[in-house]
Amino acid sequence: MKMEAKLPAFPKTRLRRPRLNRFSRRLVQENQLTVSDLIWNIIISDGPDPRDPVPSLPGVDRVNIDEAVKDARRALSLGIPAIALFPHIESDLKDPVGTEALNPEGLVPRTIRAIKSEVPELGIIVDVALDPFTDHGHDGVIAGDEIINDITVEALADGAIILADAGADIVAPSDMMDGRVAAIRQRLDQHGHHNVMIMSYAAKYASGFYGPYRDAIGTSAVLKGDKRTYQMDPANSNEALREIALDIEEGADMVMIKPGMPYLDIIYRIKSEFMMPTFAFQVSGEAAMIRAAAENGWIDEKRVILESLISFKRAGCDGVLTYFAPNVAEWINED
Ligand code: PBG
Repeated sequence: MKMEAKLPAFPKTRLRRPRLNRFSRRLVQENQLTVSDLIWNIIISDGPDPRDPVPSLPGVDRVNIDEAVKDARRALSLGIPAIALFPHIESDLKDPVGTEALNPEGLVPRTIRAIKSEVPELGIIVDVALDPFTDHGHDGVIAGDEIINDITVEALADGAIILADAGADIVAPSDMMDGRVAAIRQRLDQHGHHNVMIMSYAAKYASGFYGPYRDAIGTSAVLKGDKRTYQMDPANSNEALREIALDIEEGADMVMIKPGMPYLDIIYRIKSEFMMPTFAFQVSGEAAMIRAAAENGWIDEKRVILESLISFKRAGCDGVLTYFAPNVAEWINED
């Protein structure tokens, strides 16, 4: 569209005119951030402390099940529609194939059940991935240097059933194995979980921005090598569209792009192309950068966080997974 061509030139057109008053700025505002856009990332742990701060992710604690239930109540009272759970697993429960991911009495299923029994109306999203459970920190079963795709996909589908049985509303495969969405959809349906949704980490990049998260869930110290054989090359954009197209074909209800801010162009292309419910994951490294700068007084925390989140809406997101969700909900509700 060549709309500019129809505009009368200055001085007839003064784009500053509607910016001059607060009321007219509000009227012409194109995008809004609401609490309905927020998904709160919560890191859960079986450790000794109820709330254990993550040094590289200021403002975020690993929480035990009781605290997770409290956070869930807080989410509900703030109007946040859903939370996303990520587990820190004790190292003696980890093994090469991530067996603990299949334990129906594991930390994640117990947490889901506890939250669902107290706060049933809050949406629960859970990662389907092996990395919190493997002793090498990779998202799959390995043989030598290779992450074995098809064996991993079977394990993920089994794991999804455990989570759905526990009461998860949305399962979110974050592993980037080929074919996992189809396998999970089929397995869920076989087990009567046809109403459980799949939010696919469809375009997930091999990013340096996951560092604080890996500290938080305890995989930084054990991870051997990197994840470039399964996560995407940050240099690629067309490939993201192919990833999304396949996941939609395989049965994804919603798609996600991750990380967030460095990939706004990808979000924009994906929303324009597929018109699917589209989400961004504002990952740990993004949150840590903002918090660290704010703690030093170098940027205004509230302003920068709100600006980062409206950028996702502008790019076409329907919602954002963010560690800032409760703070943002409070700011929005106060306004
Ligand atoms: C892995 C997973 C990662 C995140 C969520 N699930 C990191 C990774 O791929 O190593 C990152 C979240 C964040 O950085 O906030 N299945």
